[in-house]
Amino acid sequence: MTRLPSDAHADVLVIGGGIIGLAVAWRSAQRGLRTTLVDPSPGGGAGRVAAGMLAPVTELQYGEEPLLRLGMASNERYADFAAELTEASGGKDTGYRRCGTVAVALDSDDREELRELHAFHRRLGLDSTWLTGREARKLEPMLAPGVRGGLHVAEDHQVDGRRMLTALLSAGERAGVVVHRAEAVELLVEGGRAAGARLGTGGSLTADRIVLAAGPHSHRLPGLPEGVLPAIRPVKGQILRLRIPDAYQPFLSRNVRAVVRGRHLYLVPRENGELVVGATTEEQGYDTTVTAGGVYELLRDAHELVPGLTELPLVETSAGLRPGSPDNAPLLGPTSLPGLVAATGHYRNGVLLTPVTADLLSEYLATGELPEPARPFSPTRFSSDRLSPDRSTTKALA
Ligand code: GLY
Repeated sequence: MTRLPSDAHADVLVIGGGIIGLAVAWRSAQRGLRTTLVDPSPGGGAGRVAAGMLAPVTELQYGEEPLLRLGMASNERYADFAAELTEASGGKDTGYRRCGTVAVALDSDDREELRELHAFHRRLGLDSTWLTGREARKLEPMLAPGVRGGLHVAEDHQVDGRRMLTALLSAGERAGVVVHRAEAVELLVEGGRAAGARLGTGGSLTADRIVLAAGPHSHRLPGLPEGVLPAIRPVKGQILRLRIPDAYQPFLSRNVRAVVRGRHLYLVPRENGELVVGATTEEQGYDTTVTAGGVYELLRDAHELVPGLTELPLVETSAGLRPGSPDNAPLLGPTSLPGLVAATGHYRNGVLLTPVTADLLSEYLATGELPEPARPFSPTRFSSDRLSPDRSTTKALA
């Protein structure tokens, strides 16, 4: 392990200590790169709020097959990644749970939508089994009697984002990552190349490569030349945490998803008795207020799906900002500014895509070669020369 003085020039400087930034920094340090990371409160960001559903199949949207492949690649590495992280962090558990997911419908319109999703899964050769309402309730007896059908995806699992963050911070520091608890207030560009960051606390950090992993704040970093990154829009998600008392166990045995009147709802039951209920999807800037309406909507829909849930203690309400790129897929790899690498725009899939993002980017940082699975997600796919003469060019490149 290489330790460097806290103000020394590094091989890699990561801006942003959320789940993606911490994982990239940890993996980079493991590759022998002298790595620093800057964030005023590392271990925060959307991963701290997220439910941690690892659902590449049940979250699949039409037209997002490249993202599906990336999500499945990450899902496949999760068990090993979580085990290695626990070991490297000195025994910190990540809450990784191989539980599977059921997605159910409450009315005939929702059932039609799920049937189409199931047919899409079958066309893509994904492991997804259709369930009648009775079969769904046999798997999860707390589901409402009115459930009209659904599907079972045995390989969509869960992890605890908060525990992951704690473990990643610890594993990174143990591997030699130097963490600066400060804000990067400006990207430093020298001779047409990203060279470092000026800190809000005074002073600056320099490195050969700068990884921008600041979620929905990435494109707003002062000093970033125009056109290097597209706007990463903040998409607010309000989310609830309930507690399942021992006397109520087993309450749910796997993740449960539903579309209720067009809104996506999910329940993620953890082994420690926490039940996460999420999430709203709101595009209204950088506001993270928890609203009465958001909580009401979630509880109303969750009650319709699992009526017994209103008996449970409500422990926490929170809101986070998903970082949404223009096509909702992540930005991975070198940007048009030499020396600047993007690891942002993971939208609804940040926790899921953490292992694959960290592996692909640390490979790039160590070797200079961007591995093939990252190439469809090049940050340059949005730049104006690629957009012309029309959007179809972009689609082909994406
Ligand atoms: N991946 C779940 C969400 O973004 O709400």
